[in-house]
Amino acid sequence: MLFEEYTYFNYQFPEPQYLGAKHTHLPWIKKFIPDNVKTVVDAFAGSQSVAFLFKQMGYKTITNDFLNFNNQIGIALIENKATKLTHEDLKILFQSAKNKSDFELMENTFTKVFFEKEEARFLDNFRANIPLLENPLKQAIAFAAINRSMTRKITMGHFGHTQALVYANDPERIKRNRSLIRPIKEIFEELLPKYNNAVFDNKQDNQSFHKNSLELLPTVENVDLAYFDPPYCDSHADYQGFYHLLETYTEYWKDKEFVNGIKRYEPQRISGFDKKRDVINSFEKLFKLSEEIPNWLISYNNRSYPGIEEFEKLISKYRDVKVEAKTYQNGRGGKGSVAGSQEILFVCKPKKKHFVPGNHQHELVDERL
Ligand SMILES: C[S@@+](CC[C@H](N)C(=O)[O-])C[C@H]1O[C@@H](n2cnc3c(N)ncnc32)[C@H](O)[C@@H]1O
Repeated sequence: MLFEEYTYFNYQFPEPQYLGAKHTHLPWIKKFIPDNVKTVVDAFAGSQSVAFLFKQMGYKTITNDFLNFNNQIGIALIENKATKLTHEDLKILFQSAKNKSDFELMENTFTKVFFEKEEARFLDNFRANIPLLENPLKQAIAFAAINRSMTRKITMGHFGHTQALVYANDPERIKRNRSLIRPIKEIFEELLPKYNNAVFDNKQDNQSFHKNSLELLPTVENVDLAYFDPPYCDSHADYQGFYHLLETYTEYWKDKEFVNGIKRYEPQRISGFDKKRDVINSFEKLFKLSEEIPNWLISYNNRSYPGIEEFEKLISKYRDVKVEAKTYQNGRGGKGSVAGSQEILFVCKPKKKHFVPGNHQHELVDERL
């Protein structure tokens, strides 16, 4: 296993551009993974960067994010053992779609908001062809790579602003980032090999889901380690505001309204972890539902609500907890990651118990009581 574990590290995770993605913190997080882990759940997986590390370490990896576009990356790179997109598949994706009139959502919703008409039409046509690929694994690779291509093309890599086309016409910006004016098809063709090359088999049956984590946890069994990286409440928590377009494209919503200048879908999915009024209650539920999972690692940020001390108190009802901190050198990585803010990891282990001598010889007592 040891040899294979190193082999898996030859595979490279395609670099994400996702607020709060942990790809730059992986060596640091890895240090706190306990020994003897076999099965892991990543319950708020986002770009799947941490789930990918778990897969590389040879663990059975159960990954989840309540947004389906993230789940598609999970299917493509975590669940998938060997399937890749071939040249024949590309012909299918780029062919002129037969059912064009059913696929005009991007053109009708996002022309002149994020894309020129021609690009929006290309995306609709590509989307119409995805279901023609022979299985959900191939479809997931197509989704993962085309969605990433869209974040490449749009300034700042998210869809929470209306400056995309302004910037795409600004010579100074173009000089710094040529992707702003490159056709999405060309970006996709450049990125696809990175996704294909990241597919490998770690000899486990890994699974990807798109559920609310509070609904996922009751369905998983025999998990040794849970990794929680929820939105950082009060500090860039609005994932559906930033990435609505990718979810709209993946789901191809027919039953939503598109609101505001950015054409965000409405109604949104309910997170429970992004609003001050819900977040404490949601964490209480999350921890209760995770009681059977011995080890937890929880990523956090010193600018989130609740604050570090209050959050530590909340966790310590269930686990012995140690707070690890990593200070950002610069403002990379989003989600409150400005210089001086800290990436926090709560390292949570089962509470230590010890024997009490005397009358209660066989009683195990919690040290903290
Ligand atoms: C901080 S990001 C995770 C980043 C991830 N660790 C990475 O490396 O890319 C938080 C994620 O939680 C997801 N999310 C928010 N509420 C959720 C919920 N109730 N259940 C599952 N996922 C949720 C968001 O869609 C977002 O992708």
